[in-house]
Amino acid sequence: MALLDASGVVAGYGQTEVLHGVSVAVEEGEIVTIIGPNGCGKSTLMKAIVGLVGVWQGHVRFQGEAISGSPAEAIVRRGLCYVPQTSNVFPSLSIRENLEVGAFVRRDDIRGRMADMLDLFPDLGFRPERKAGSLSGGQRQMLAIARALMLNPSLLMLDEPSAGLSPVMMDNVLDRLREINRRGVALLMVEQNAREALQMSQRGYVLVAGENRLEGNGRELLNDPEISSLYLGG
Ligand SMILES: Nc1ncnc2c1ncn2[C@@H]1O[C@H](COP(=O)(O)OP(=O)(O)OP(=O)(O)O)[C@@H](O)[C@H]1O
Ligand SMILES: [Mg+2]
Repeated sequence: MALLDASGVVAGYGQTEVLHGVSVAVEEGEIVTIIGPNGCGKSTLMKAIVGLVGVWQGHVRFQGEAISGSPAEAIVRRGLCYVPQTSNVFPSLSIRENLEVGAFVRRDDIRGRMADMLDLFPDLGFRPERKAGSLSGGQRQMLAIARALMLNPSLLMLDEPSAGLSPVMMDNVLDRLREINRRGVALLMVEQNAREALQMSQRGYVLVAGENRLEGNGRELLNDPEISSLYLGG
């Protein structure tokens, strides 16, 4: 049984259908990357999976149970967390406060988890009382990831985690994601930096115009001539 199984997902906004029956799956412990041109529906797919956009047809199952239509809070409680593409931290709150907010559905003691996160991301642990608004783009992205991890998910979904970062910061963020995966968290990410993302992925999907175009293991996709000319700069 796949950890996440989204099948034939049709979704959109208002009268406009954006996804015309998209399917993706993630196995326990896997890293899976979705690539595709701007506007093809990558973010919409992520939002449909986590319940922020309605699923008109098709289904989304997590750990074998249907989650389409469940409230977002119920979905995160089951262990599926999501880091959106933008506005993913509260700038006026400190690092520590952002992590506390991230743990909002937990009723138990979060201090151990907080310490683990500050340890996993030394840039954050260095001065946890700093306001998130004073962090660099890369540090903010790390905070957004740490915040999602406060809920101890089994699947972390990330929408363009390395977008807009310097090459060094991008490597830094992707390195942290590899470490998180080594600790047993499956990752489903959307990435523009397709080469780096596919290199660290077991499998990848290519979406075009709201439909599945190609899928395969990370290396196969990296070596596919169509993919290299379209997404990897030749
Ligand atoms: N809130 C919204 N209301 C109406 N249309 C939207 C909304 N968000 C996205 N769209 C439209 O849905 C389509 C898919 O957008 P989406 O953001 O899912 O693409 P994407 O693949 O994530 O693109 P990008 O690579 O630029 O992030 C686009 O045509 C976009 O204009
Ligand atoms: Mg997007």
